[in-house]
Amino acid sequence: MAGMVVKNMSFKVGQTLTIVGKAQTDATNFALNVGPNEKDITMHINPRFNAHGDTNAVVCNSYQDGKWCEEHREGGFPFHQGEEFKINILFTPAEFQVSLSDGSVIHFPNRMGAEKYSFISFTGDARVTSIEIK
Ligand code: GAL
Repeated sequence: MAGMVVKNMSFKVGQTLTIVGKAQTDATNFALNVGPNEKDITMHINPRFNAHGDTNAVVCNSYQDGKWCEEHREGGFPFHQGEEFKINILFTPAEFQVSLSDGSVIHFPNRMGAEKYSFISFTGDARVTSIEIK
């Protein structure tokens, strides 16, 4: 999977990260990852059109010590192949509140407990058009 990596950025408690992109017409899935370094992921958000046994579901998880932790499934699935999407993530001390365009919200715990994360990566079958942190 080709992808993009943003290093040395900072996503801190109190901030909102907004990502806009466009899913490929034949997209199976794509993922946004936020973490403290190149290896670990505190929040993986993985919209799956048809991947890993799921159809139209958003799977969230964290990746620590070389393995995936417990999956978290919540929210709707307002994603369409070939279409633009927007995801808003508010970072509170306890959790990431991931707002989807259908108004549903995923509450994913801040499992690593840090107040700032410096790596963002994006993988899979979509193209990112903007990432903004405010
Ligand atoms: C795996 C998949 C990973 C990640 C993980 C989340 O099955 O290969 O890319 O999405 O699930 O738990």
